[in-house]
Amino acid sequence: MLTSLARRCIRAPRVVPIPQGRSLSASPATAAARAIVYSGNGNPSEVLSVLTFPDLPPPPTNTLNVQFLLSPINPADINVIEGVYPSKPKLNGNLTTSGLGSQQDPVFVGGNEGLARVSALGSGVEGLQEGDWVVMKTPQVGTWRTSANVKPGDVLKVPSADKLTPVQAATLVVNPPTAWNLLHDFVQLSEGDWVIQNGANSAVGQCVIQVAAAKGYKTINLVRNRSDLPILQQRLRELGATEVLTYDELAQDGIRDKIKSWTNGKDIKLGLNCVGGPDTTRMARFLGKDAHLVSYGAMSKAPLSLPTSLFIFKNLTSHGFWQSRWYADHSLEEQQSMLRTLTELMANGKLLAPDHEIASIRGSDSDEVASEHIRSMVEGITSGQYGKKVLLQFESDEA
Ligand SMILES: NC(=O)c1ccc[n+]([C@@H]2O[C@H](COP(=O)([O-])OP(=O)(O)OC[C@H]3O[C@@H](n4cnc5c(N)ncnc54)[C@H](OP(=O)(O)O)[C@@H]3O)[C@@H](O)[C@H]2O)c1
Repeated sequence: MLTSLARRCIRAPRVVPIPQGRSLSASPATAAARAIVYSGNGNPSEVLSVLTFPDLPPPPTNTLNVQFLLSPINPADINVIEGVYPSKPKLNGNLTTSGLGSQQDPVFVGGNEGLARVSALGSGVEGLQEGDWVVMKTPQVGTWRTSANVKPGDVLKVPSADKLTPVQAATLVVNPPTAWNLLHDFVQLSEGDWVIQNGANSAVGQCVIQVAAAKGYKTINLVRNRSDLPILQQRLRELGATEVLTYDELAQDGIRDKIKSWTNGKDIKLGLNCVGGPDTTRMARFLGKDAHLVSYGAMSKAPLSLPTSLFIFKNLTSHGFWQSRWYADHSLEEQQSMLRTLTELMANGKLLAPDHEIASIRGSDSDEVASEHIRSMVEGITSGQYGKKVLLQFESDEA
């Protein structure tokens, strides 16, 4: 296992920490219009390239131009590029007049989530102003780019933007709502109730820990073993984790008694799974009577197998959850109310930004060099060399 430091040293991208707070939006560090694009599905470390395109014209009526400030690279973005995710992006044939990105040679722009600043408003747009921070409401808009022309319905104005860091705002619409819904939509939990989750150090897992702690729920958090495990355990405890275990420890003799002593014999009511495979089967065996297991990811890519006895004798209920479906099934008011709740938690210091690195695409790099950089970065992410959320930032060519 690699330490976090070693992970970062391998194929290290150019990482430039950005100042936290509104200063980012006041002075966006972008000049040339660029996007990270692909023409067809495949391995992201082979099919992605960086494309420079002409600056956007002023926005037509009922549209607006936005300038992206930070765009996360989420596991689902990789799956979309691979062509194995249900959400599909639309082809862009209007970035250039000839070559890649033109009508003759259209491209997909990567990225689903991102923080953008409104840079120009077309006539007829209401409720938004230049300088506002917005996040994407329409899925698969293509956020790995400097700028885009979008419709007002594609974006949501960030509530309490002045109280959030850019990273909190850039990662607002996917992982925190997922964590909130996982904890609220399947079982009625009360203060002191127990939840067990795997992938606990993922961005979603970190949100689950914090939301649970804010509500008084107790969490058992499963992570992969690593050489710097005590540091990770300490970090998750600081976020509010009650207990942190590795999958190896969960497989050891005597662990059932240990968990029983933690919970004081209380049933664990909810299990959250973003990993799948045998480790999840094992986790499910620790759930109590009438418990619910909610699967929302499959990071190990291994199928989930559940013993029939859990359904017969413990009345287990097993669900799947997809935040995109939640957005499709809920009204704009419900979506805004959820984001307000989460931004209040953030503003009160109860929901911190995920552990992250900012990876810059340098303006002084040619498209070829920048393409190499992004491909090797994505390869590092998919092979687990980062150990934290990576967010993209396009730098100006003076950088
Ligand atoms: N259903 C939904 O609506 C929804 C919404 C958001 C996210 N998700 C899913 O939730 C998961 C986490 O997303 P995220 O953005 O929070 O991810 P993230 O921050 O990038 O973290 C990825 C996590 O996956 C773990 N992992 C990677 N490969 C693994 C393997 N082979 N076995 C066990 N663990 C492995 C990593 O552990 P290490 O640190 O040990 O590498 C890390 O904890 C993803 O599957 C994502 O698609 C689903």
